[in-house]
Amino acid sequence: MSNNTLFPVPDAVAADAWVDATKYQQMYDRSISDPDGFWGEHGRRLDWIQPYTKVKNTSFTGDVSIRWYEDGVLNACANCVDRHLPARADQTAILWEGDSPSEHKHITYSELYDNVTRLANVLKARGVKKGDRVTIYLPMIPEAAYAMLACARIGAVHSVVFGGFSPDSLKDRVQDCGSTVVITADEGLRGGRKVGLKVNADQALKACPGVDTVIVVRRTGGAVNWVEGRDIWYHEAVAAASPDCPPEPMSAEDPLFILYTSGSTGKPKGVLHTTGGYLVYASMTHQYVFDYHEGDVYWCTADVGWVTGHSYILYGPLANGAVTLMFEGVPNYPDSGRFWQVIDKHKVNIFYTAPTAIRALMREGEGPVKRHSRKSLRLLGSVGEPINPEAWLWYHSVVGDERCPIVDTWWQTETGGILITPLPGATATKPGSATLPFFGVKPVIVDNEGHVLEGATEGNLCIADSWPGQMRTVFGDHERFKQTYFSTFAGKYFTGDGCRRDEDGYYWITGRVDDVINVSGHRLGTAEVESALVAHPKVAEAAVVGYPHDIKGQGIYAYVTLNAGENPSEELRKELVAWVRKEIGPIATPDLIQWAPGLPKTRSGKIMRRILRKIAANEHEALGDTSTLADPTVVTDLVDSRMNRG
Ligand code: PRX
Repeated sequence: MSNNTLFPVPDAVAADAWVDATKYQQMYDRSISDPDGFWGEHGRRLDWIQPYTKVKNTSFTGDVSIRWYEDGVLNACANCVDRHLPARADQTAILWEGDSPSEHKHITYSELYDNVTRLANVLKARGVKKGDRVTIYLPMIPEAAYAMLACARIGAVHSVVFGGFSPDSLKDRVQDCGSTVVITADEGLRGGRKVGLKVNADQALKACPGVDTVIVVRRTGGAVNWVEGRDIWYHEAVAAASPDCPPEPMSAEDPLFILYTSGSTGKPKGVLHTTGGYLVYASMTHQYVFDYHEGDVYWCTADVGWVTGHSYILYGPLANGAVTLMFEGVPNYPDSGRFWQVIDKHKVNIFYTAPTAIRALMREGEGPVKRHSRKSLRLLGSVGEPINPEAWLWYHSVVGDERCPIVDTWWQTETGGILITPLPGATATKPGSATLPFFGVKPVIVDNEGHVLEGATEGNLCIADSWPGQMRTVFGDHERFKQTYFSTFAGKYFTGDGCRRDEDGYYWITGRVDDVINVSGHRLGTAEVESALVAHPKVAEAAVVGYPHDIKGQGIYAYVTLNAGENPSEELRKELVAWVRKEIGPIATPDLIQWAPGLPKTRSGKIMRRILRKIAANEHEALGDTSTLADPTVVTDLVDSRMNRG
């Protein structure tokens, strides 16, 4: 997986960039030696209603407390919208490209202001106050951005739930954060297919009596059920509302949003981000990592249901007054040249996508890429999972015509923004390496006992000190926050990722070292898929692991033990696949189900996943010590049936 070829920074890129190699080193050194001075200065990139006098106040030990700019007062929406009005009221803020190539819209900063303020007043009229939670379950339409910003404007905390999640997943998230309002649409549109969002929301909300308002955007005009008194049409409510809604003054440490993400145990947890530090970090990384300059058209292909959409479609770019492209569709509709067609249509300069999309498009060959000029492109980005050198090289030579630097950006929902990445004018790149830390970020690699390893080495990736974009807590469960991130290696933030550092000090993320799998850049806990499987009446036990998958990075491999008297069949396999899709959503679709008469367990009954991972990956020689198993023959049986599968 490793390729040590060095791709130098092109001179022309370095000359125009915000940061070159010398400046990177100076800024990085200062950010580490004087974090208060460094972040104190860069925090002023935002407009503060009341400037801060304190900068960093953080501790990774004891109760773990993370505070940045704590006595400052600001409003995130005003920073993303209002403050741009004097200079760029008529400039495009959001460039929306629909699922169908015949549909697009330019939304200027003044139109954004009008839409956001009206919706903010609708929320207020329905009783939403500062600190209340609002759940957003929308497709990739401008209303998703309006909804997030409207919440931020009045100090409500948004929780965006990806439109691909099932009613059950939506229900859990609404219940956990206690929202009273849900914003959804009649249907979503993806790749020409309709996705019933309102019907899912109705199903979910049967178990959420606390929700008294559902605001429904009309996207397709499809028929919907209506609950009188609870449901209101978005377009009617907004048309009747006033655009006069002053932004709520928020303390820097007031919550901005909750975003649920999977961990190695239990249900997804509500990652809580606050206002000041998050926005400073999102905006600063967006400017420097993507080398954003005035007038650039910037496109991040993520969904707003994930953190990438929060930080790099919405908050970062809009805080910088950028033109941010929002795409409703999919890469292969109407054909697999869609990305490149959109790039030419809107003269996109900066393009940020995921390795899984690159690998899928690579499979279609160069034809669909070369049919479009892509001459506007200046910079390419990658995020979500390790990018294999082969995909990196294809991205570089075929998509970028060997002209565009690639930024492979490593980060997480928890980190709020990019932590390890090249800067285009400063960092020579290596295919597959996320390269070097961003300002203020102190990566450390530790062994399993927590000893810090120096020099070229490999181990567990931790971050030694806080940065402004860091999550502050797990919503409603600070203990879980401490346990999950700060207890494995005391005093350090543990990322859950494995990592290698090479002789040049470059970081290479090797993937998760916990029971989290990364399927097409989407994070899933194996425990979540297992609990969906065992909820099926015919299933006695299940163990789920990731295995290498050509397109998705990792696929979902499920070992299933049926109840006594049940027989494996192709029909039952299909039924279980459909079951998991219904329970969690299509992103959790098992790729392979292997019938397992027994699972390898220790004598104390713990499933040995290490062995199951090796079997799934076809690494049968490397199973390691199986002598501690309660019944070692289980493994032989599993290996035999894995081999028969081919
Ligand atoms: O394993 C890492 C992988 O994605 C995980 C974070 O997932 P999530 O919170 O959903 O956020 C994804 C978007 C930021 C990480 O723990 N990951 C993310 N980016 C990279 C990556 N692995 C390798 N290289 C990356 N560039």
